[in-house]
Amino acid sequence: MNALVGIVMGSTSDWEAMKQAARQFENFGVPYEAKIMSAHRTPALVEKYVSGAAGRGIKCIIAGAGGAAHLAGVCASFTTLPVLGVPMSSKLDGLDSLLSTVQMPKGIPVATFAIGEAGAANAALFAIAMLALEDKALASKLTAFRKKQAEAVAKAVLPKL
Ligand code: RP5
Repeated sequence: MNALVGIVMGSTSDWEAMKQAARQFENFGVPYEAKIMSAHRTPALVEKYVSGAAGRGIKCIIAGAGGAAHLAGVCASFTTLPVLGVPMSSKLDGLDSLLSTVQMPKGIPVATFAIGEAGAANAALFAIAMLALEDKALASKLTAFRKKQAEAVAKAVLPKL
């Protein structure tokens, strides 16, 4: 099946965190593709990939980048598909990445998630929630996932002192 979500990241060094997004799609059986492209090192590749994404059936793009993290914003400039930004940890603990991803000027939105692995996983879960609006089987899987997660928390026992 063709990919429904494109995961892009600025560097192979981002994969350790961004693979948490890929894991969610594997678990839910959502077809995705993951690619390296950089807003400053390979801008032409970003334009080509993102401009063609909607035409190939991609429904949203998850973009992870660190430092002066402009990848998500640049992706958003080339498409009207939803772009989900994940700030990567960096030399400034990811605060630079977070601010440069979240502070998009008015008109070109990027939905921004938490720094690092949690953000990558949540971006995927958010994408799954969007796809589930049109896919009842996926919606049932998401409900089951939430139930299982809640049950695990309810059953959790703190270690003895
Ligand atoms: C960004 O610069 C990447 O998204 C990465 O988070 C950061 C560092 O990249 P490398 O120097 O590790 O390739 O473009």
